[in-house]
Amino acid sequence: MIKFSDRVSDLHPSAIRESFKALSRPGIISFAGGMPAPETYPNKQLAEIASDMLIQSPVIALQYGITEGYAPLIEQTKRRLAAYGIKGDGNSLIITSGGQQAIELTVKALINEGDGIVCENPSFIGALNAFRSYNAKLYPVSMEHDGMNIDELENVLAGNSGIKLIYTIPTFQNPTGITMPLEKRKKMLEVAKKYNVFILEDNPYWELRFAGEGVPAIKSMDNENRVIYAGSYSKTISPGLRVGFLYADNELAEKAVVCKQVSDVHTPVLSQMLISEYIKRHDFDEQIKKSAKLNGEKCAFMQSCIDKYFPKSVMRTSPEGGLFLWCDLGEGVDSKEFAAKCLERNVAIVSGASAMPDISQKTGAFRLNFSMASGGSIEEGIKTISEVIKEYGR
Ligand SMILES: Cc1ncc(COP(=O)(O)O)c(C=O)c1O
Repeated sequence: MIKFSDRVSDLHPSAIRESFKALSRPGIISFAGGMPAPETYPNKQLAEIASDMLIQSPVIALQYGITEGYAPLIEQTKRRLAAYGIKGDGNSLIITSGGQQAIELTVKALINEGDGIVCENPSFIGALNAFRSYNAKLYPVSMEHDGMNIDELENVLAGNSGIKLIYTIPTFQNPTGITMPLEKRKKMLEVAKKYNVFILEDNPYWELRFAGEGVPAIKSMDNENRVIYAGSYSKTISPGLRVGFLYADNELAEKAVVCKQVSDVHTPVLSQMLISEYIKRHDFDEQIKKSAKLNGEKCAFMQSCIDKYFPKSVMRTSPEGGLFLWCDLGEGVDSKEFAAKCLERNVAIVSGASAMPDISQKTGAFRLNFSMASGGSIEEGIKTISEVIKEYGR
């Protein structure tokens, strides 16, 4: 047996990544991934751009790039954020290898072993594992129907010294699909100020709204550079290109650049060029709108199937965007066992247990992605899950 470092010995493979392995099975219906619908990938436009870039600018496309990122993409990203009120005074934007790396670099730059991080309960496993791999102490705070419970957050901050960061996914949260309203965002910022902690605002889904009104990012209300903003092009263009960004206080971003040099030197230049040129040549906003509309249709259909086949006692969320909804079967169901039973019947879901900051916490909840499957398989998959629910006497 290999004796792994203390930092990683408790890390387990992400249930989501593991479920990828099952996806090659014939006939599998997957509600497990976190990807945009494949029919929305702008593959033809990207093929044309790739060919142009490699022929016209081979030295830029194929040489080492600078760690901070491809300058035109940095400027385009800043302009897009500024249009939504996220101004960059005193902040720098760096391109990262996905939003995942923006999270990891933040932790690497700020967190010592044992430092505290508050996170939503449940939360995004990729972030939780990043926190765990730096031996941070996690402080889960309950999710309400409209995001993190702010009174509980304040109690946790008041009762524990050594907390440095609040991690939140305020818009179409992964895994619940819940969005935090403006008032709560303001309160979270006030509380962060009162206890002098940073907020890591992870917002990769925010442009994928298909219902309701947009809510300003917490970062847009931050006048102290207390909010570290992580974004991504994974959910709007392609997750495989691995392009995200970190927008943070100049000093912190500078440190993140040094940390990134150690990790991967820079994000592949060709990936960055593809996104930059795509935004330049095409109507990116229109593409996002189309993709969100399709997600909205699939989500509505999945919800109608849930309402038709699941017992009324099963709680489900009603997202206004993003890629996921969350169901809870309540006490007495082990979500890991439940997900395994669904997989035996060729339906992949993500067990709620994998999204719990405290891995020993029991839950009967699970996450469903609605963007990947098509109409017929959505109904078939939900019907199959309902048969597994019956086995639990619900
Ligand atoms: C909440 C959240 N943050 C960040 C990421 C990271 O995405 P990527 O690294 O592909 O940009 C994901 C991906 O699923 C996510 O759900």
